[in-house]
Amino acid sequence: MNEQGLLEYSQGVIDLPEVVYMNGSLVPYNQALVSVEDRGFTFADGVYEVIRCYGGSPFRMTEHLERLQKSAKAIRLDLPFPFETISSAVQETLAANSLEKADAAVYIQVTRGPAPRAHALPVDPRPTLYIITRPEKGPRPELRKTGVKAITTEDLRWHMCHIKSTGLLLNSLAKQKALESGCYEAIFVREGIVTEGTSSNLFVVKDRTLWTHPEGNHILSGVTRSAVLEIAAEKGIPVKAEKFTLADLHQAEEVFITGTITEVMPVVEIDGRLIGTGKPGEVTQIMGRSFARLYTT
Ligand code: PDD
Repeated sequence: MNEQGLLEYSQGVIDLPEVVYMNGSLVPYNQALVSVEDRGFTFADGVYEVIRCYGGSPFRMTEHLERLQKSAKAIRLDLPFPFETISSAVQETLAANSLEKADAAVYIQVTRGPAPRAHALPVDPRPTLYIITRPEKGPRPELRKTGVKAITTEDLRWHMCHIKSTGLLLNSLAKQKALESGCYEAIFVREGIVTEGTSSNLFVVKDRTLWTHPEGNHILSGVTRSAVLEIAAEKGIPVKAEKFTLADLHQAEEVFITGTITEVMPVVEIDGRLIGTGKPGEVTQIMGRSFARLYTT
């Protein structure tokens, strides 16, 4: 395993949370159990969110909950609790794990719940909602200074990538391929068009203009992506939410990826080719600094 792979993996050794929120109550981690026939398990019939907390404050929780609801609706699932209950549950889970003032990540998952295995949807679903919280500091700070490497890989995922589905096997396999190639992220390319990363959205800079794949069913509409678009609008940096090709990516002046854990991360090498000077570019750095200001002020 090479350097960036190791860096990534070294973050994988983490303590178990004490308490998990499960269908309305806080339970000890070992007692948070689901049925072997939970449709999340048998059909990946579930949706999720990852929310970042800075000093205990969830970042853009409303946007995340709205996206959770959209994802649920797209798979014909009703959230089992209203937003207020889920928000309180997030705070309770953070507090129960002594993370109420910490930098943390919150994972919320809703599945269609237990039902005898059958392709048709259960008539009377009993969704499973759980929330787990963990300390999270994000990628090592030096990666933001040096930038990271990426590979591209064919986007063989389904055509519903706007749904934050738990069915992430292809994302997972692509990420593993990136790590094993000494890279931080794998960037999906669908029929020659660059879509997004395995757990990030992607921007390229060309002529001081930001390019990113348009919203639609081939990318997830990232919360970080929309924050970056707001920053660009404020700073008068033009944005083209238009499709671009693998050749455009390779020839970009700057590239960066965005995501809840990743925030704004410069990408300085793709498929073994240097991007621009091989160092984080000016526009990327402006975006990174401005994004950090959103949660530090
Ligand atoms: N992933 N695209 C995909 C496929 C993603 O899985 C993610 C986030 C993003 C970025 O979205 P946001 O800025 O809202 O985090 C884009 C989360 C972090 C995950 O699966 O762990």
